[in-house]
Amino acid sequence: MASHQLLVLAGDGIGPEVTDAALQVLDAMAEFGGWQVDISHAAIGGAALDQYGDPFPKETQQAIDRSSAVLLGAVGGPQWDNAPTRPEAGLLSLRQYMGLWANLRPFEVFPGMEYLSPLRRPAMNGIIFRELTGGLYFGQPRGRRFLPGDLEVIDTLQYRKSEMWRIIQLAFEYAKDHGLALTSIDKANVLESSRLWREVAVELSAQYPDVPLEHRLVDSAAMDLVVNPQHYQVVVTENLFGDILSDLAGGLVGSLGLLGSLSVAGTPGSRGLFEPVHGSAPDIAGKNLANPTGAILSLAFLVGWSWQETGAESIIREAVTQTLAEGPRTADLGGDASTQEFTEAVKTRVERIWSRRRQQ
Ligand code: NAD
Ligand code: IPM
Ligand code: MN
Repeated sequence: MASHQLLVLAGDGIGPEVTDAALQVLDAMAEFGGWQVDISHAAIGGAALDQYGDPFPKETQQAIDRSSAVLLGAVGGPQWDNAPTRPEAGLLSLRQYMGLWANLRPFEVFPGMEYLSPLRRPAMNGIIFRELTGGLYFGQPRGRRFLPGDLEVIDTLQYRKSEMWRIIQLAFEYAKDHGLALTSIDKANVLESSRLWREVAVELSAQYPDVPLEHRLVDSAAMDLVVNPQHYQVVVTENLFGDILSDLAGGLVGSLGLLGSLSVAGTPGSRGLFEPVHGSAPDIAGKNLANPTGAILSLAFLVGWSWQETGAESIIREAVTQTLAEGPRTADLGGDASTQEFTEAVKTRVERIWSRRRQQ
């Protein structure tokens, strides 16, 4: 019997609610799939600040080392706004500690969700490859400096060519494998880092003659994503642009709660971090209102990528897609189902799909 070690970092706000939903689905999967999963929990973000005074404590690092995959809820919340270290710093340290330089954020309009999109004719099925451990998030120097009669702040947009190379190459590989076109998004009319980014994309494109490559500037790309979203099949971009554009994609498909993601390094079969795109949603936390789809889809990516259980991945995705189409639906989708009611509905479908496949 296959055995897997899962570490859950539930975090703050709706994080515990949506990871609990994903674990219930995993439970249903493991039972039918005949695998043994050892689940452990550790602290991250605000919860870790409260418990250890550190948003990414060494106890959590040790737990990561023992795991074969990590599922994250969300971090942050207004109660830590004035803390000396922010909860979000814990998530950034986690990504860096695990060396996860690629964040894949798929976006699609699920069947039956069209009415939620602000667009008249919503149709899109794309994926954003976001560079995750470089750029403005990590560049040095950063901080505040007192000047005579003034205060200066510095953030540094720093990248190595090798960091650009590996994420753009990963996106090219994906586009090639799926027969899709690649859009590289930058700000090469202003930023030196973007000019190198563009050069790297051009240099790499020589190795991928069958992948159509285009470059777009981030400002007009944001506009065009709204006007012409079906054009974007595979998008590759740096850290901050990817953060912003993926929330925009959440708006286009109808709810940020619908997007899951994979944060990975290297090849399938390796340890990764699987996190919904949304945050801790303090406005709805603790009310059993959150849409757990992003967390459940992140779990699907987890079992497919880190554990190579690709059959299980497709069953979870099918169960989610059916639930979204048929209901019940959570409040962000215009329904009145609670997090738990939606989760039960996904579990029921997981069981149904499993038994149907068994009989075939
Ligand atoms: P947010 O993503 O938490 O929420 C934005 C809006 O979307 C809110 O109205 C929220 O209710 C709604 N929403 C988000 N997820 C939802 C879900 N699953 N179901 C239903 N509705 C959902 O963004 P924010 O309010 O800007 O940030 C809140 C906190 O979360 C901040 O501290 C921020 O730093 C943090 N954050 C964390 C992560 C992460 O842990 N990966 C990601 C983004 C933001
Ligand atoms: C995300 C979040 C994080 C990011 C924050 C919480 C550090 O917005 O995962 O999209 O900016 O990467
Ligand atoms: Mn974000």
